[in-house]
Amino acid sequence: MKKVTLDKLEPGMKLAKDIILDDGRFLLLKGFTLKERYLEKIRLYDIPYVYVENEIEKIEYFSEEVIYSETYHTVKNVMKAVRKGDDVDVGSIKETVSEIVQSIINNDNVFMKLTGIRDIDNYTYLHSVDVCIYSLIAGKTMNLSAEELNNLALGAILHDIGKCKIPLNILNKPARLTESEYELIKKHSEYGYEIVKRTPGLNDEIANIVLHHHEHWDGDGYPHGLKGDEIDLLSRIVAIADVYDALTADRVYRKRFMPHEAAEYIIANSGTQFDSQIIRVFIDSIAVYPADIIVMLNTGEIARVVESKGPPSIRPKVMVIARKKGPPVFEPYLIDLAKNPGISIVDIIS
Ligand SMILES: [Fe+2]
Repeated sequence: MKKVTLDKLEPGMKLAKDIILDDGRFLLLKGFTLKERYLEKIRLYDIPYVYVENEIEKIEYFSEEVIYSETYHTVKNVMKAVRKGDDVDVGSIKETVSEIVQSIINNDNVFMKLTGIRDIDNYTYLHSVDVCIYSLIAGKTMNLSAEELNNLALGAILHDIGKCKIPLNILNKPARLTESEYELIKKHSEYGYEIVKRTPGLNDEIANIVLHHHEHWDGDGYPHGLKGDEIDLLSRIVAIADVYDALTADRVYRKRFMPHEAAEYIIANSGTQFDSQIIRVFIDSIAVYPADIIVMLNTGEIARVVESKGPPSIRPKVMVIARKKGPPVFEPYLIDLAKNPGISIVDIIS
């Protein structure tokens, strides 16, 4: 075991001691092999050094991680270019999106562990990628054709492209918006529609998703106040994925929802804000808590999520492996959160 300062940390190093934050929260557990994105997370918390094992493991980069990261960079470049007044680089966005579509067609669970890892700086871009992934998983379960999945993916990834026309000081305002500022932000769906419509290579289905992703099933949304089936199917899917993902991120005016709270929110708005049939498909197909992630319970127990997908993933079975305080856990034990309503997940550790 050796002590390593942050500037010397490398992917492949294996943690020899837990990384615990000043407020007692576990960031990463002993035995974990560091990957680039976790190094970024450690740097965020200003941790001076960590203990690692002497030998370095050869890291296996899974292709979904590479695809996810490439998509993030593509979205970032496209949004920055559009903000500068340049055209959408349709070629690169289509190429990266088709890789995601292909991977999800092969295995719809493949990206679930990568979604939801965000901070304030990369939120906008990763939100677009995550909305694309959730929409595709639901779309695949609904047996959409490959062409529809492609349109769905492009519409989802570009759904907020119109925000590039909103001044950054309003978009990133660290306080509640005034009524007129909110009205201006609401214009982003129409601005986005205009951008997509004038971009060769992007079709009307994609433009409609960008235009209608804030319409509500009961007619209470914007910009047109469309109701029920008047809103095209692909837009109804993206509307759910957008809100689900947005709720799980920290915002200036509220703390992030835990994934099960976001799932409960969209279920509670079934038939009013959202199409209830798509909500059923959405919850049936995504893993709210993917298998193998490490979570903190309200009891102070630290647990690994046991394989789950669909409705059981809202309150999954978990294997307790450690405690924040108290004696170590020598024999891990199972808790079924569905059968223990008093126990809940309060944080995601890794
Ligand atoms: Fe939006």
